[in-house]
Amino acid sequence: MSMIAVDYDGLIPNNVGLGHDVRVKRALEKWHPGYIGWWMDMGPDGFQNALVYLRTAIGVDPKGWAKFDYVRMPEYRWGILLAPQREGRKIAFGSHKGEDAWQEVPGEYRAMLRRLIVIQGDTEPASVEQQRHLGKTAPSLYDLRNLFQVNVEEGRHLWAMVYLLHKYFGTDGRDEAEALLERRSGDPDTPRMLGAFNEKTPDWLSFFMFTYFTDRDGKMQLESLAQSGFDPLSRTCRFMLTEEAHHMFVGETGVTRIVQRTCEAMKEAGIKDPYEIEKIRKLGVIDLPTIQKKANLHFSLTLDLFGNEISTNAANAFHAGLKGRFREERLTDDHQLENGTYPVLRFMDGEIRKDDTPALSALNMRLRDDYVADCQLGVDRWNKVIAEIGIPFELKLPHVAFHRHIGEFSRTNADVDGKVLSPAEWTHKRTDFLPSEADKSFIESLMEPHYEVGKFASWIAPPKVGIDNKPGDFEYVKIHDA
Ligand SMILES: [Fe+2]
Ligand SMILES: [Fe+2]
Repeated sequence: MSMIAVDYDGLIPNNVGLGHDVRVKRALEKWHPGYIGWWMDMGPDGFQNALVYLRTAIGVDPKGWAKFDYVRMPEYRWGILLAPQREGRKIAFGSHKGEDAWQEVPGEYRAMLRRLIVIQGDTEPASVEQQRHLGKTAPSLYDLRNLFQVNVEEGRHLWAMVYLLHKYFGTDGRDEAEALLERRSGDPDTPRMLGAFNEKTPDWLSFFMFTYFTDRDGKMQLESLAQSGFDPLSRTCRFMLTEEAHHMFVGETGVTRIVQRTCEAMKEAGIKDPYEIEKIRKLGVIDLPTIQKKANLHFSLTLDLFGNEISTNAANAFHAGLKGRFREERLTDDHQLENGTYPVLRFMDGEIRKDDTPALSALNMRLRDDYVADCQLGVDRWNKVIAEIGIPFELKLPHVAFHRHIGEFSRTNADVDGKVLSPAEWTHKRTDFLPSEADKSFIESLMEPHYEVGKFASWIAPPKVGIDNKPGDFEYVKIHDA
């Protein structure tokens, strides 16, 4: 492995030798004010002068890549960090399998590669925009800090993609980098590119569900791009994955703490039935059936991000060696998939059934299956917390056909068990599965800020351990220390 030391002196910390690459350095320095302008407009609403105890990437050594310190967010060092180059790396799949990984963009795949980078890049600022109001209702300083950590790192991920665009795609790349600062989540005229990134993240339960489910889609996409035959993309995604892990940790532990608090409050009050919703809500906690509905919503929205189950784009990207499968190196087939098949769940003749499809066309489905399995692990851990406290309730992932807008199941109304409903039945039962207006306003009523050191909102338990091993009374955000 060759390791380039991180240059921390210039405007843009990097380990890509930016100091010797005048063209790209200038291009990025020109892009920088626009980025800061975007951050001030669309990043966290308020708190820009607060001192936040943040992790900053300062290297790519797995043992010590980050440092923690108080930082004002606009002064965060958004750097360009690629995982170390692996000497002699070969392309591991597709029609170029066994050839040397590309250090430059192969001309024939230029457009396809640019599109993959732009789509990934677009999701990064989108989530910051979606989450920009949450600081005002943070359940604790600990959570406020975690929100901002996720936000600044999504900003860094945007930098990572913009670096590739400027470095390898000339004028088109520059235009795409500009456009990434112009689109806005939820804007009717210039929306972000993917549906789930135009939805609202109105409350903290949504935030935790988003970081659990939607950041995990990010993980799956980054894992498959980390396989790319285009080496700079592979290296950049490998490093992004180290940061991404924390985002999913925030989501998983956030939901765990909410579930735990609900179950504890029920136990203290002697309520055994999880469906005694009004009584439970009076305790100032979120009832489990409503948590389930939020999970249903965010899981189903995220499944749409995997695209059509059967997809020529996915087949082309794999065949070209640009986007692999989840953990390609652990799979034991021929890594070319010219002949094999893969079972795809389809909606045919009014019912949901499995259909063996050419494996190359079924790559989105396959990645989605890997994603669902990964999601289930955290759900199992949530259920362990519920079971340990002794409440008879199990959280479940809804059926993949439930509430879909893209792919095979967008043409049907399936319930959470995958039973196909008539349009009338769906309308009638919708709020059994998804948050109703009343559920939403109840959750909203709980969203009050808790900024006192070491204090937490009534509906969420404190974390087991602090960030960077800090004690429970640590001041993660110094709000007024301007
Ligand atoms: Fe990201
Ligand atoms: Fe993320």
